[in-house]
Amino acid sequence: MSSKFYITTPIYYVNAKPHIGSAYTTIAADVLARWHRQKGDDVWFLTGTDEHGAKIAAAAEAAGKTAQEFADEIAKDFKQAWDVLNISYNDFIRTTEDRHKKVVTRFLNKLKDSGKIYEGEYEGLYCVGHEAFIKESDLVDGVCPDHKTKPEKVKEKNWFFKLSEYGNEIKNRIESKEFVIEPESRRNEVLSFIDQGLEDIAISRPNVTWGIPIPWDKSQTVYVWVDALCNYLSASTYWPADLHLVGKDIIKFHCIIWPALLEAIGEKWPRKVFAHGYFTVDGKKMSKSLGNVVDPIQVAEEYGADVLRYFILRDIPFGNDGDFSHERLKNRYNADLANGLGNLVSRTLNMIEKFWPDFDNSHIKPTAVDNMLTHAEAVLEKNAFDVSLAKIWDVIAWADLLIESSKPWELARKGDIDRLKEVLGQLFEALLGISKSITPFMPETHEKLTKLLAVRPLKKPNEPLFARK
Ligand code: MSP
Repeated sequence: MSSKFYITTPIYYVNAKPHIGSAYTTIAADVLARWHRQKGDDVWFLTGTDEHGAKIAAAAEAAGKTAQEFADEIAKDFKQAWDVLNISYNDFIRTTEDRHKKVVTRFLNKLKDSGKIYEGEYEGLYCVGHEAFIKESDLVDGVCPDHKTKPEKVKEKNWFFKLSEYGNEIKNRIESKEFVIEPESRRNEVLSFIDQGLEDIAISRPNVTWGIPIPWDKSQTVYVWVDALCNYLSASTYWPADLHLVGKDIIKFHCIIWPALLEAIGEKWPRKVFAHGYFTVDGKKMSKSLGNVVDPIQVAEEYGADVLRYFILRDIPFGNDGDFSHERLKNRYNADLANGLGNLVSRTLNMIEKFWPDFDNSHIKPTAVDNMLTHAEAVLEKNAFDVSLAKIWDVIAWADLLIESSKPWELARKGDIDRLKEVLGQLFEALLGISKSITPFMPETHEKLTKLLAVRPLKKPNEPLFARK
């Protein structure tokens, strides 16, 4: 039965061009969206850009542009990157669009009507990098440990939301699994955070002009996280989201603040939040100052988008922290793709062309490998991309072994035609199965394979499946 599947990525800050970290969440979401479409589900895949707030205003100023000009440029860069990476989003929302501003304004009005907001004063520290208030106790040597910047001291009038009232409700729904947080470690993190007691939060900023005005108090703009979270409501007919895919750094916003805000206005909650880990690049934190920021477009141009998509999901178990290593990318490209899948395809088709020229591929189904591939699909339910790919690559190893042990060229020489045809038929079935299973991960490779496998009579491919530029 077809069901609805609404999946989101976080919307990305437009303070800098997309990097491999933003590509990570987006590629993972794309694989899930494509997989659900393949199953026949009614999929809505939403991504976009987070364009308001002090951080963007500062980046624009540093670039000598207006905030809108700057946001326009970077939003374009994101769209371009997602095109290069074959991201099949259904909608791309920008928080500076009118349709988004309308949703935010409506949301804020409902919040006001709920009676859960009040005017107050805040005195404390604000980290622009996080776009969040930060505690003195979070600082290391007086600076934010993530951004290495000194937080701003602020004393300001804000509109507050009574987040402190929602701890029990959130906890109950997490424990009853009505609201699912995965993996387990993140769920525990959220629960223990709730146990420490929730404080009310400011939902407006008086001194940030680059934002959406508070509808009843034009001297303030909507706090950028509240503004951003509302993007998920833009696809109202698909709400509630079935899955918010996020990085582990933003779970409090998605697992505590967001459900509480929704509860206050009587809206449904998302069903699940899955938080992936963070990765370093060649063992170091990725940062502009270290000059090791990986540009996903560059990697895709050198190796092909599918290679990046494969590597990033195969090498790091989704949910764990990991490392993006250029060396391992190259190794996997050579071993798993060029010499693994690429070689199997060219060897198999070569042998069929040579030993069985009138081979009829029109009625062949991937039955022999069905079981192995069913498992590869089942683990996608748990977002275990690495396991899924490993299972598919088990079929490649199985097919390689079949070639090595049966030696079709010797069967041909000896005239054992029955066994020869059996082996070549099984190899062809394996290719069909692999081609189907890699579809969500490697859409371009799937297309190339589909074309190759549909040709009759079969011909050895003219070009390798994976070629490095
Ligand atoms: N704008 C907010 C999200 C608002 S959603 C209502 C934001 N944007 S972000 O651009 O900073 O980050 C977006 C995503 O990129 C997060 O899921 C984050 O975890 C991910 N990553 C950024 N750097 C990363 C790594 N180095 N490694 C893995 N993911 C990383 O937060």
